[in-house]
Amino acid sequence: MSVATACANIALVKYWGKRDALHNIPAAGSLSLTLDRLRTWTEVTRVEGAPSDTLTIDGHPVAGHALERIRRFADLVRREVGDSGAISVKSQNTFPTAAGLASSASAFAALAVAVADVFGLKMTESELSILARRGSGSAARSIFGGYVRMQAGVAEDGADAYASPLEDIDFPLVAAICVARAEAKKIGSTDGMKHTRATSPYYDAWIRQVDLDLEAVEAALRSQDFERLAELVEGNCLAMHANAMAARPGIVYFRSSTLWAIERVRTLRAEGTPVFFTIDAGPHVVAFTPPEHLNAVAQRLTGHLDVAEVLTSSVGDGAHLADAMPEIS
Ligand code: PMV
Repeated sequence: MSVATACANIALVKYWGKRDALHNIPAAGSLSLTLDRLRTWTEVTRVEGAPSDTLTIDGHPVAGHALERIRRFADLVRREVGDSGAISVKSQNTFPTAAGLASSASAFAALAVAVADVFGLKMTESELSILARRGSGSAARSIFGGYVRMQAGVAEDGADAYASPLEDIDFPLVAAICVARAEAKKIGSTDGMKHTRATSPYYDAWIRQVDLDLEAVEAALRSQDFERLAELVEGNCLAMHANAMAARPGIVYFRSSTLWAIERVRTLRAEGTPVFFTIDAGPHVVAFTPPEHLNAVAQRLTGHLDVAEVLTSSVGDGAHLADAMPEIS
């Protein structure tokens, strides 16, 4: 049995588009901050003689598409080590998965570490990042803590498409996550990216912009230029959504609470609080701010009828093995 844990991450420069769907290789790089409030614990056990893999998420047995995704992921490791043994996967999240927060990042990063270990496959962190990427593009970044940069690479098989930690950046930011009350999203990231690439007139411009934003955001983090960072991160997020909205038919992840929270963040900033927002493929707004402003920012993001809760998070560490699953209430 192997137990691993990993945190989700939120991208400051977003990944939205694949250059290869089969190997799940991104079309451009991305840059994120790992968050400790959004954590997954995963226990993987080999079940000798069992006919197939099983999956439990937060105590509920899961079948269908989610189980198939896990099976195909485990196959990558089974093929590598020449072992066809079935596994039982138990996964626990410390945050509401139904809300559509970035659960695939922490899930596949933890799974990569646990599955490799259970089959005795020794991997470097770059190899683990590549393996996690096969499960979910953003999971490649969750192998590492703090600020992380993902490179798209050029190799056809994705051998150079992995993430690396930006260890020398020391810009203390924490997050308030404004969890919207919403049903599960209708278009997941894989389908959303495919549809955007196929039909959005802005897709090529978006990919070009990501390269510019990556350099500029990394420079703003290094020089600790908050105003510049705020402008770049919000711009990159809105460009990703504009790109998806311009697909035909357009993909709109925003809800009324999303626009409300954007407005609140910008008002706060205009009043002098250093804070900026970003939004993944869903309605939830994530506000980044220095630690001393976190409570005030979280407070200002509560109060909308469609905001279920505001979670606060500090920076998370990289994926790693653990002794046992904790009790999560
Ligand atoms: O890892 P995926 O396939 O769920 O894609 C993640 C896409 C975004 O969350 C919208 C952006 C990102 O870079 O995390």
